[in-house]
Amino acid sequence: MEQIKRPERSYEAYDRALALIPGGTQLISRRPQLYAPGLTPPYAASAAGARFTDLDGNTYLDTMMCVGAAILGYADEAVDAAVVAQIRHGTAYSVSSPLELELAEELVATIPCAEMVRYCKGGGEANAIAVRIARAATGREIVLFCGYHGWQDWYLAANLEGEHVLDSHLLPGIQPRGIPNGLRGTALPFRYNDLASLEEQLARHRGEVACIILEASRGASLPAPGFLEGVRALADAHGALLIFDEVVTGFRIALGGAQECFGVLPDLATYAKAISNGYAMGAVVGRREVMQVAAELFISSTYWSDAVGLTAALTTLRELRRRDALAYVGALGEGFRARFDAAAAAHGLRMRAEGLPQQLAIVLDEGYGTARRAIKDLYVQEMTRRGFFTSLGVSLSAAHREADLDELDAGWAEVFPLLAAAIAAGNVAGRLEVAPSIDAFRRQVG
Ligand SMILES: Cc1ncc(COP(=O)(O)O)c(C=O)c1O
Repeated sequence: MEQIKRPERSYEAYDRALALIPGGTQLISRRPQLYAPGLTPPYAASAAGARFTDLDGNTYLDTMMCVGAAILGYADEAVDAAVVAQIRHGTAYSVSSPLELELAEELVATIPCAEMVRYCKGGGEANAIAVRIARAATGREIVLFCGYHGWQDWYLAANLEGEHVLDSHLLPGIQPRGIPNGLRGTALPFRYNDLASLEEQLARHRGEVACIILEASRGASLPAPGFLEGVRALADAHGALLIFDEVVTGFRIALGGAQECFGVLPDLATYAKAISNGYAMGAVVGRREVMQVAAELFISSTYWSDAVGLTAALTTLRELRRRDALAYVGALGEGFRARFDAAAAAHGLRMRAEGLPQQLAIVLDEGYGTARRAIKDLYVQEMTRRGFFTSLGVSLSAAHREADLDELDAGWAEVFPLLAAAIAAGNVAGRLEVAPSIDAFRRQVG
C-alpha cells in the first residue's frame, strides 16, 4: 500500500502557528498530539466526500469526518449549492431571516421533545444556553452532569471541587484556572449508567438542582436497560429539568438523536455538529413551557441566525431525509464493525468496534493494561502512514462507499500483523516512530 509523504509543509506551518495561536488549534481534537504527532497532518488544504488533502499533497481517507459533523460528507454538493445560492441574497441582515422560522418548523417536526427552538453557533454555546434557561425556569443553581458539554465556565466549574472531577467526563487534569471560585459547587458529576450516583447527588442537594444534563449515549457507552428512564423519573421526582446533549448524537444516530433512538424525552435538548454538515450552527430545543422562559432572558448574539448556518441546517436535514442517509451510514458502520472485528480477530488482536454503527468506538481489551496507549499509537501511526485519518472514534458519513471499507481492510491487512508482532514481542512502544500521543490536557496547555 502506498505511503504518504511526511507532511513537512503542514508542520512548518504548525510551528509558525504555535508562535501566534496559543495551543496551536481552536479545537482540542485538531491537535496532532492526539494522533501520531509528526505524521498526522495538522492542516488540510481541501476536502471532498470522505477525503481531505493536506498541505503536502497527501490525501487521506477520513473516518472521523470533522469530529462527526460532516455527516453527508465534505463539500456536499446539495448543501454547498444551497449555501452559495443564499449568499447571493445576503448572509445576515438588520432584521431576521424567515429561514429561522422555516428551520424551527422542521426541527419541531423532527425532534420528539421540540416545541420551541433557539439558535446559536456550536455545541458548547447550545449547552450554556440550555443550562441558563433551566436555571431561570427552576430558580435553582446546581447542575448535575455526565459527559462532555463544552468549554464554558458553568461546566469547568466542576473542577473547582478538585482537579480530577472532569477526568472521566472530559480529559484528565483540567485546571479550573480563570473560572470564578464563586461557581464552586454549582456543577456536580454523576456516573453514566449508575442511577445510584445520580440519586445520591439529588438527595444531597434536595430542592437545589436546576437540571440534569447528559449525553444519552456516546461511542461504546450505550444506556443500560432502564437507565435513561430512571434518569427521567429521578428528574421528575426532584423537580429538576432533564437536558440531553445531542451535539454528537443529533442528526447522526437518528435525525431526532438519542431521544428518538431510545424513546426517552428530555425537557430540553441541544444540537450542533451534524445538523449543518460543516457550517457553524447550533440549536436548543425543548418543551414550550420551559423554552418560553428564554423570552425573558438575555440570550442574544449577532451571528446566531445568519442565513448561511440556517440554510446549511435546513438543507442538511432535508438531504439526510431524502437520501435516507442515516440508514445508509448505519449499514456502512455495521460493515466497518464486521470487517474490523474479523480482521483484528484473524491476527489474534483483542480489539473490537463497539457502539451504534453511526458512531463507533474501537475498544482495546483491558487485558492489554498499560500497553493500550502504545497499541493505539502504533495503530494510528501505521494507518496514518498508509493514508488513513483514523483513530479509535469512528464517525462515517453518507459520502463513504463500500470501496472505502475495502481500502480500510487492505490497510488492516498490513497493519494488524505489525501490531500482533509488536505485542507478541512485548515491544509496542519500541516500534513507535512518533512521540506518544497525549490526552493529558494539562501537558498540552501547560
Ligand atoms: C457531547 C458534546 N457536547 C458539546 C460539545 C461542544 O460542542 P462545540 O465544539 O460545537 O462547542 C461537544 C464537542 O465535541 C460534544 O461532543
